[in-house]
Amino acid sequence: IPVDPFDLVIFGGTGDLARRKILPALFRRYCAGQMQPGTRLIGAARADMSDADYRDFVAQALDEFDTAHGHTADQRAAFLADLHYVTLDAMGDEGWDRLAGLMSRDRIKAYYFSVGPGLFGPLAERLHRHGLADEGARIVVEKPFGRDLDTARALNRTLAQHFDESQIYRIDHYLGKETVQNLMAIRFGNMLFEPLWNSQYVDHIQITVAETVGVGGRGDYYDRAGAMRDMVQNHLMQLLCLIAMEPPAKFDPSAVRDEKLKVIRALDPVAPAQIVRGQYRADGDKPGYLEHVGNPASTTESFVALKAHISNWRWAGTPFYLRTGKRLRARTSEIAVVFKEAPHSIFGAEAGRHRNILTIRLQPNEGIDLDVTIKEPGPGGMRLVDVPLDMTFTEALGPDAEDVPDAYERLIMDVIRGNQTLFMRGDEVEAAWAWTDPIIADWEAAGTDPVLYDSGSAGPEEALALMHRDGRRWREIRT
Ligand code: BG6
Repeated sequence: IPVDPFDLVIFGGTGDLARRKILPALFRRYCAGQMQPGTRLIGAARADMSDADYRDFVAQALDEFDTAHGHTADQRAAFLADLHYVTLDAMGDEGWDRLAGLMSRDRIKAYYFSVGPGLFGPLAERLHRHGLADEGARIVVEKPFGRDLDTARALNRTLAQHFDESQIYRIDHYLGKETVQNLMAIRFGNMLFEPLWNSQYVDHIQITVAETVGVGGRGDYYDRAGAMRDMVQNHLMQLLCLIAMEPPAKFDPSAVRDEKLKVIRALDPVAPAQIVRGQYRADGDKPGYLEHVGNPASTTESFVALKAHISNWRWAGTPFYLRTGKRLRARTSEIAVVFKEAPHSIFGAEAGRHRNILTIRLQPNEGIDLDVTIKEPGPGGMRLVDVPLDMTFTEALGPDAEDVPDAYERLIMDVIRGNQTLFMRGDEVEAAWAWTDPIIADWEAAGTDPVLYDSGSAGPEEALALMHRDGRRWREIRT
């Protein structure tokens, strides 16, 4: 459905995120017919560029990051022709009048802060000063939203001076992933699962976000963050919330975010013995983490596994195991809900012990598996075997499901539509830091180094032991 014409300014319009994600996402929505004529997309950054230079820059970004997208040459030319660029200094006053001159009155204005958090305040303040922050204005802010509770609070306070919470869109791109949204559809659109979705029936839940990439060109940022701040505090936390929250009364921003917040607030502190931090090591002439970040003394973790507990009626006694890491065996993200064994086997001991496992695959191969126990075929005795009921979305839904929109496509259009359901509220981010901070403080106090793991492995042995101790095991990391 097309949205009314709007003005979108990307601060940091020449940056990496703009090139890789934001501009290709806008282009796809444009090709999908969602943007009406007159919609204005404006890149803003410090580099001295003309509109024509910027169009070339964006054309290159589309070549590089939008390779598989089927569009016509006309669509591409028309998209590029509508782009504008403003040379602008977030800390100074240069460029702001030109920007103000490009913007229309009385239409939705969205400002994407694709810049470091240090510029959030100056940008918000200048938007205000130049009369660009009317009631219809929205700002979109990227992670990292602070590096601890204090800095997140300070950012929230700064933004609140100029914008109402209803105008602030804090992005966690995991919430824009199709299957992450499906998680809610599965839980709250079916009668089958919800009655069993509690500690009486669920033995434990595993959340894995495994990556094959290393820290890439972001060593500087990453080495100051580590996996806990980069992935656990936000993406894994959001997955945990969606899997554990109570059914909201409505699918609307307040109801959903209230329920997520309750989950975060019910999380117990995590004891140091329940966490493993890892760092990938060099392998022969293949560099390890230390070489990648250019800091031979770094003790930053590129892997975390931990066991969390949610102290509420629904989940008391059901642990949540979370793990994420770089340079692992495969790129795979999934959530596995492992149900308890049947309380009594009528088939005797030799039938073995079996468990239903519901696996929600976020990427790649988006879909759901439900392991069910059946009789092993054949004339023998009553032997049981577990088979997956496999629902791969592209198989089930046909070619339409193959063109899964990128998370940014969905999220940016939600900003324009004014729907905050898939964005983090300020109190949510603060609560997530309040849980993360003591974990990091414990590490810093203990001063221990992360344990090393091989690139291409499933992470450190210690992470496997975290589960083995409890008589459980991680699911395999494979594509
Ligand atoms: C980002 C992290 O937020 O998410 C990166 O900063 C990580 O370190 C990325 O690689 C993973 O996102 P995706 O969509 O590729 O799973």
